[in-house]
Amino acid sequence: MKVEVHEEVYRLMHPKLTFLLTSVDKAGTPNVMALAWATPLSEEPPLVGIAVGKDSLTAANIKSTGEFVLNVATMELAKATLLCGTRSGRKVDKFKSTNLTKQPAHRVNPPYIKECIGHIECKVKDVIDAGECYLLIGEILYVCVDDTVFDEYWKDEANVLLHLGGSKFVTTRSR
Ligand SMILES: Cc1cc2nc3c(=O)[nH]c(=O)nc-3n(C[C@H](O)[C@H](O)[C@H](O)COP(=O)(O)O)c2cc1C
Repeated sequence: MKVEVHEEVYRLMHPKLTFLLTSVDKAGTPNVMALAWATPLSEEPPLVGIAVGKDSLTAANIKSTGEFVLNVATMELAKATLLCGTRSGRKVDKFKSTNLTKQPAHRVNPPYIKECIGHIECKVKDVIDAGECYLLIGEILYVCVDDTVFDEYWKDEANVLLHLGGSKFVTTRSR
């Protein structure tokens, strides 16, 4: 039997790789949020699309500074990711409450998160209105990865965090 789905319709499009997205405001103060709605858009030029809630501090930061970093999270970071995805940087310093470590990026101002295994540095190329979100199109400026867990593809031990929806996660380890 096939049943009609309403509120959870987007969950049919999960699991999705989960990022800890870092941004900064005009003064350089960093923030981090959880983000699963990200997709490659083009290889030449290298472009990614991310859907970010209009009310979030992250959207305000990215719209004013035009930069963000997608940090690839692992299952070990599931608890920190949930916190970064349920609290706003408008109310709490999420770096303090998670103990995540900031590291300078190569080409942009938002920091890397040291505990993550891959980092994609982006500059905003376009902002598209999309319901309660902005679809932000980012040009990729620099990418680096932990080579102990990546060799052309994610290795099994990378334990990449995949979001099923809500507070549920799975990982690439179960392949
Ligand atoms: C695993 C996970 C994935 C999420 N993915 C997204 C997403 O793709 N886009 C989005 O706008 N919000 C997403 N959220 C919710 C934001 O992370 C949340 O609204 C956050 O509090 C925004 O923080 P900020 O106000 O500090 O920017 C996700 C939450 C979780 C837990």
